[in-house]
Amino acid sequence: MTHNIVLLPGDGVGPEVTSAAVLVLEAVADQFSLPLSFTQYDFGGAAIDACGEPLPDETLAACRDADAIFLGAVGGPKWGVNTKRPEAGLLTLRSELGLFANLRPVKLHPALAAHSPLKEERIKGVDILILRELTGGMYFGAKKRSGDTASDLCEYSKFEIIRAARVAFEAARGRRNHVTSIDKANVLETSRLWRETVIALHEKEYADVELRHELVDSAAMKLITNPGSYDVILTENLFGDILSDECSVLAGSIGLLGSASLGSGSLGLYEPIHGSAPDIAGQNIANPIGTIASAAMMLRYSLKQTEAADTVDSAIFAALDGGQLTCDLGGKLSCTQMAEAVVAHLKS
Ligand code: NAD
Ligand code: IPM
Ligand code: MN
Repeated sequence: MTHNIVLLPGDGVGPEVTSAAVLVLEAVADQFSLPLSFTQYDFGGAAIDACGEPLPDETLAACRDADAIFLGAVGGPKWGVNTKRPEAGLLTLRSELGLFANLRPVKLHPALAAHSPLKEERIKGVDILILRELTGGMYFGAKKRSGDTASDLCEYSKFEIIRAARVAFEAARGRRNHVTSIDKANVLETSRLWRETVIALHEKEYADVELRHELVDSAAMKLITNPGSYDVILTENLFGDILSDECSVLAGSIGLLGSASLGSGSLGLYEPIHGSAPDIAGQNIANPIGTIASAAMMLRYSLKQTEAADTVDSAIFAALDGGQLTCDLGGKLSCTQMAEAVVAHLKS
């Protein structure tokens, strides 16, 4: 059975990192005789340029019908803050497909410890899974502008909190059995509901998992001073967005982190956590590892090809271990060369 993958390269470095990752996907498909079929659609700023909308109807329909969606990045200075925005297309896509659970793994590769701006002994062994709630909170609340005043409503329901928390607890059981729920319960009502709901679910169904609560401001500090104390992080949409970029520094570069956005079925959206990186776009120097890691997550979660996914992860490990690096990590490889280095390790 053919696996239908919708490709949304998007803007800036998006097309560069997706092409690089497709090289790896095609090679692994060949190796494991996987029938992967890629169909590309307009999305983001590129779609605004082509037809005036960041998420054209045709693109959304293809995404609904796909087995998986593979995305580069959207946005850039060309599409200003106050006009129709590429990012709005991404938010609608996540919400329309019900992709409420965003998994962002942060793992330090041993060979990269020396590349971090943080002390090696502090980041050694970092292995965190961020579970970011993705379809609620301030991102999706009513937005208002009245004269000189603006507001963004932040709302969460118990239902939204429980389904995200469940994914975090389940994931923890397969890891080091620890969840840190991060909120701002000393100030925000949504955070108080978040904490109460997580505590109730934990007592009822997940008492075997260790649970800790932290306030987001001190968590932002502790993630740098004691990152080894985190296993699974469970947090709401906006905090998860901010903390995941912070955590990318623990791994060495924002270009390294991939993500999976999942809902209740097997359809998923896979993308690196970084943006369109307009400052380096068009130069073929972006780090494609986060996108290749997202490809491995796609093989694992949507296509259920565990062996192929493990093979891609091992090839990433081997390439980095061999000192093959892009310039964000002090290396010399182009985006394409980095992908070729991963391909070269697929069979080894
Ligand atoms: P960014 O993540 O695009 O870039 C931040 C910094 O990290 C830049 O210096 C960039 O060069 C560097 N960087 C990012 N990806 C890299 C890679 N693969 N290799 C090497 N260096 C990399 O964040 P930004 O500049 O704040 O945002 C640019 C645009 O991207 C904005 O319009 C934003 O809304 C959008 N954005 C989109 C997504 C997405 O599509 N999922 C995610 C984040 C930001
Ligand atoms: C991300 C991005 C998006 C977000 C933007 C582009 C809407 O920053 O995926 O991390 O804030 O969710
Ligand atoms: Mn982000």
